[in-house]
Amino acid sequence: MIESPTPVMAATSIRKVTAADTPQVTDALAGAFYDDPVAAHCLADPARRSRRLQRGFTIFLERHYLAHDECFTTTERSGAAIWAPPGEWKLGGAAQLRMLPAMARCYGRETLRVVRLFDYIEDRHPAEPHFYLAFLGVEPASQGRGIGSALLRPVLERCDREGIPAYLEASSPRNRALYERHGFAVVEEIALPGDGPPMWRMWREPADADRGAGS
Ligand SMILES: CC(C)(COP(=O)(O)OP(=O)(O)OC[C@H]1O[C@@H](n2cnc3c(N)ncnc32)[C@H](O)[C@@H]1OP(=O)(O)O)[C@@H](O)C(=O)NCCC(=O)NCCS
Repeated sequence: MIESPTPVMAATSIRKVTAADTPQVTDALAGAFYDDPVAAHCLADPARRSRRLQRGFTIFLERHYLAHDECFTTTERSGAAIWAPPGEWKLGGAAQLRMLPAMARCYGRETLRVVRLFDYIEDRHPAEPHFYLAFLGVEPASQGRGIGSALLRPVLERCDREGIPAYLEASSPRNRALYERHGFAVVEEIALPGDGPPMWRMWREPADADRGAGS
């Protein structure tokens, strides 16, 4: 746990996500990602997208990310930054197999496209140790007020203090610009299979470090 919450604005602060936060945090993430180009490509059925996003985020939190305790939200649970610490980004074949029945129930006929997306981006993941930002989202009504930046801060500050790089995949030019403002640089633009939208692999060296870009 972080020692004391990080203030964002007078009304909110940043703290770790607990299991009890999961319903509200996954609601906020589902709202955030509804119009995201990659989410809309994988979950093409608009009538089912919100529910599938919410249930999918629940699966990933409960079965992987919460155990690593590097997920941050606000006091209002209006968004979240879901990180994996160094060495823990990979779900791996066995974990994916265990998750498959739950994913199939969640994503229905869109399961194959979601699994292909995760395989595709996992195959391109850098080998060097780093913090991995799996998901960052703020509910639409709260966007543009500095919450996304504040959610990034605890891990990025730790990366700078401890000399650890960070990595993510940006899913739109607009969120790519946010990450660039926080010190990430594009390593590669990738086109998702099946006529999918572009994504940008982004790497961040810790401040004051002088290392090469991630591969
Ligand atoms: C990206 C996001 C987490 C940023 O949170 P936020 O609280 O709006 O961020 P901040 O107020 O600290 O910074 C604002 C910047 O975030 C980005 N941003 C804001 N709304 C966005 C949106 N709907 N989609 C993508 N990026 C957005 C822009 O770069 C914006 O700067 P700009 O207004 O000059 O264009 C949030 O907007 C969001 O959830 N967007 C939809 C989901 C998404 O794109 N997640 C990232 C996936 S890689």
